[in-house]
Amino acid sequence: MERRKFVRLAGMSAFAITASGFTLIKENGILKTSCATSTDMLGPFFREGAPRIQDLTYPVSADVLPILVKGRVLGADCQTPLGNIDLDVWHCDHEEEYDMESDDFRCRAKLTTDSEGNYWFKTYIPPPYGGRPKHIHYLIQNIDGYEELVTQLYFKGDRKIKPNNWVKYPWDQKRILDINTNSNGIAEVKLDLYLSPKGKTTNHN
Ligand SMILES: [Fe+2]
Repeated sequence: MERRKFVRLAGMSAFAITASGFTLIKENGILKTSCATSTDMLGPFFREGAPRIQDLTYPVSADVLPILVKGRVLGADCQTPLGNIDLDVWHCDHEEEYDMESDDFRCRAKLTTDSEGNYWFKTYIPPPYGGRPKHIHYLIQNIDGYEELVTQLYFKGDRKIKPNNWVKYPWDQKRILDINTNSNGIAEVKLDLYLSPKGKTTNHN
């Protein structure tokens, strides 16, 4: 039998802790899953039409090392992988520029998850710009049964990440990632993305 425990907080929110481990949150009458990835700004630099590539690197000086960015896209129960899901990713180049015009679509890609919900791409860690920390943008849209997800990835140790500036809330911490070295000697970060069911908008993870 599924075990549920309800706690009422300040008359506004309620939690239902289920046997499967995730938390349902009811806030202002809207149900949310606790694992859903928190949202972030879309920003002014998204472009439709990015190429379906996984290698976003381009010729730069040899001392700039690539990084592998990978993760999974998962559903509302916080564990079911979502295969064949399209994601847009984009970031600025090493000169702090977003490619808004060229056919190269530099530092932009449309990715598709495999049957296990996995995605990956190879790129460079973008520089900070305009007072913002280093970041990579994500957009997942037009998925049946799920809300659009607009979010950003950050890097742990970035001194531009300060309390109450760009990454404000405890649930945003899951998007500030450690850089690890994988078994092939390549730096990598891992960001799993949890979609929110349609009509149950969330801002928590
Ligand atoms: Fe940006």
